[in-house]
Amino acid sequence: KEIFLKDYKLPDYYFDSVDLSFLLGEEKTIVSSKITVFPRVDGSSPLVLDGADLKLLSVKVNGEELKNGDYHLDSRHLTIPSPPSGTFTLEIVTEIYPQKNTSLEGLYKSSGNFCTQCEAEGFRKITFYQDRPDIMAKYTVRIEADKSLYPVLLSNGNLLGQGDLEGGKHYALWEDPFKKPCYLFALVAGQLESRDDTFVTCSGRNVSLRIWTPAQDVHKTAHAMYSLKAAMKWDEDVFGLEYDLDLFNIVAVPDFNMGAMENKSLNIFNSKLVLASPETASDADYAAILGVIGHEYFHNWTGNRVTCRDWFQLSLKEGLTVFRDQEFSSDMGSRTVKRIADVSRLRISQFPQDAGPMAHPVRPHSYIKMDNFYTVIILVYQGAEVVRMYKTLLGSQGFRKGMDLYFKRHDGQAVTCEDFFAAMRDANDADFANFLQWYSQAGTPLVKVTSSYDAAAHTFTLKFSQEVPPTPGQPVKEPMFIPVVSGLLDSSGKDMPLSSVYHDGALRSIANNSEPAYSTILRLTKKEEEFVFSDIHERPVPSLLRGFSAPIRLESDLSDSDLFFLLAHDSDDFNRWEAGQVLARKLMLSLVVDFQQGKPLVLNPKFVQGLRSILCDSSLEKEFIAKAITLPGEGEIMDMMEVADPDAVHAVRSFIRKQLASELKADFLSLVENNRSSEEYVFNHPNMARRALKNIALAYLASLEDQELTELALHEYKTATNMTEQFAALAAIAQNPGKIHDEVLADFYTKWQDDFLVVNKWFALQAMSDVPGNVENVRNLLSHPAYDLRNPNKVYSLIGGFCSSPVNFHAKDGSGYKFLGEIVVQLDKINPQVASRMVSAFSRWRRYDETRQNLAKAQLEMIVSANGLSENVFEIASKCLAA
Ligand code: ARG
Ligand code: ZN
Repeated sequence: KEIFLKDYKLPDYYFDSVDLSFLLGEEKTIVSSKITVFPRVDGSSPLVLDGADLKLLSVKVNGEELKNGDYHLDSRHLTIPSPPSGTFTLEIVTEIYPQKNTSLEGLYKSSGNFCTQCEAEGFRKITFYQDRPDIMAKYTVRIEADKSLYPVLLSNGNLLGQGDLEGGKHYALWEDPFKKPCYLFALVAGQLESRDDTFVTCSGRNVSLRIWTPAQDVHKTAHAMYSLKAAMKWDEDVFGLEYDLDLFNIVAVPDFNMGAMENKSLNIFNSKLVLASPETASDADYAAILGVIGHEYFHNWTGNRVTCRDWFQLSLKEGLTVFRDQEFSSDMGSRTVKRIADVSRLRISQFPQDAGPMAHPVRPHSYIKMDNFYTVIILVYQGAEVVRMYKTLLGSQGFRKGMDLYFKRHDGQAVTCEDFFAAMRDANDADFANFLQWYSQAGTPLVKVTSSYDAAAHTFTLKFSQEVPPTPGQPVKEPMFIPVVSGLLDSSGKDMPLSSVYHDGALRSIANNSEPAYSTILRLTKKEEEFVFSDIHERPVPSLLRGFSAPIRLESDLSDSDLFFLLAHDSDDFNRWEAGQVLARKLMLSLVVDFQQGKPLVLNPKFVQGLRSILCDSSLEKEFIAKAITLPGEGEIMDMMEVADPDAVHAVRSFIRKQLASELKADFLSLVENNRSSEEYVFNHPNMARRALKNIALAYLASLEDQELTELALHEYKTATNMTEQFAALAAIAQNPGKIHDEVLADFYTKWQDDFLVVNKWFALQAMSDVPGNVENVRNLLSHPAYDLRNPNKVYSLIGGFCSSPVNFHAKDGSGYKFLGEIVVQLDKINPQVASRMVSAFSRWRRYDETRQNLAKAQLEMIVSANGLSENVFEIASKCLAA
């Protein structure tokens, strides 16, 4: 059941047109399909169709019903051993049960409405089909349903007709003029209302935009509509890509496994990524909506018009589209802050995965269940970093040329990552050396760099070495092509002009038409190599990997004072932040050793001083300050340890936070006061930055458990007029258990019990608590009336939230592991995709001490031996055990 990239074969048959008809009923749904099939080469190979959980009612070939022996049926396939030669029509009728479909894959019901999720392999739960992305066909869809229960009937493309039928029913007929793979098919039927708007494209096409939700939520779709229009405009401006139909629909559903889905002209979204109002959604929610609405819209070109040949190429569309949405969000807000957020995410989730049992390259070599490769975000986020490197190497214009060529060559096709690579290379006549390694080698490269200054020769030398760690199935690695964007700071903190660099036996001029450059790309391609800058008249401080120009771990010989210098002066704001993070990581690691040796913890006054100067630097952007005073996460520090010690790391991080709070108390207090605002909520960068800074200051202050400061947080909670500030105050208070904590949490629930998205925040906050023994509280919340294991968002909030507390998930008595083990087995029967996302929390189990390892292993073994386990959970749990 493991599928390999090397086994890819062209399909024996192609589908030309597909006519689908749905009779949506309360007990069952009847799906009829009529497909025009033609062979790729004449011959008589069998036609094999995928199918899962389907009841077959009939099969016809060229109008003739097939009898039992004319086809073969097993639990996963319908095979027609000898189809007629040439083009023929295939008609299949199946019966399905969307009401009982709790996997939320295929056709299912959510809050009384019908909806679909077909990517990656959900279409086979709707009808028998060649469920693979290189089968691209034109679809028509007829939907028939009860008119009062399902007044709105939607599918891809244009509405061709609609009308009433006998018995209180009605129908709609849709046609999508573009060829598409079946994973982009979508259907929605239900009681929905829409916010309507229009967008006029650059060539003058009037596009109707509709965002559909239950009636009571329509007022919360204004931000989503704003985001959609901004995304449409941005794609025209930046990439010259225009929308290609007259209608664009978005539907929000409360039960959805992932974030959203880019079905052609009918995007389906998890409600939490559409619905927002100032009172109920935070700045982070607003930003996520902007990014994901953009993401799904951008897929129309990168994913839908040009799609993937097979699922191993997933990064072709996801890496590229994530890169595009990151660029969109940067252009709409602050580029530096967005980059910091994305790199933090990479470090928190991707690097650890890439060093664990699920490590796999951007283009995996094999999989059991494709869905697992969406949740293991390596492929998606690492994929975006790979696309970003093309842009770094080629510049914006060169990158745009490559994109233009990519569409010129491949519009309407299902292609591979090499095709994208070739377009970038050919459009620019570029030399990409061994760049393709990024697609096939797993593991995060570790680059070490040492520097030396030769005062007599006026040269500055950087010596690099790189190593890609072994990963499951890939013991030995080749060196990678790593672009390291670098600059050199002089003693006043300014960038030095760079004239030339000597590398690999050649002197390369950096200056551009006698204009000096202040930053250059060093192209690493070997295991070890040197770059020598000439005309350097004082010892510089190097600023390396500016903007995080490659997804690697960098270890340099920079001293603490060099790092403090970069923190204060680097012209690259990303690297200013990074210097602070490197300092904080070093500090935390050394305090962890002290803690483990029973020594008293003492905070280096230089660190406090460094942060104070950031806090007081009025030339800095507020959101940048907020990021710069956020300590690296506990997971990040544990990753750098030989044996991860969650208790020590937690103790150290809490200690530093409190210490900073008490030494910088006056500064934090004035930040809270000076960043209040009585104005109406606006989602824009200056306001978000102001709130971010105020909220982090409040969190620091409240960590002191001082009565007066708790009162301050309580005051902020009570006077807040938006969710960003209200929730931040709640979270600040919730750090410290006690009477106020309980009262405020109860108050918040009472206020918001009718808003399920806000209630999820309330679940998550309690689940993530570091209060020892919190597992009991989380167990109790499982039976809270608002809780429901069938709703993915609730699982992610409560179970996912719990697993993100190192102290409680990794509790030494094994209570956290046991809790997760039980939940995974229970959840797997309901929704394998969600269960497998949860089981991933075990993936780093070998990083802990022996006691914890044994406890985690016991749970993994229990899971793997559970009866009727899904392939999804099996793949992750068994890989965890094997590695
Ligand atoms: N293509 C979707 C997106 O870009 C991801 C959804 C995948 N869903 C799944 N169950 N595998 O947002
Ligand atoms: Zn995507």
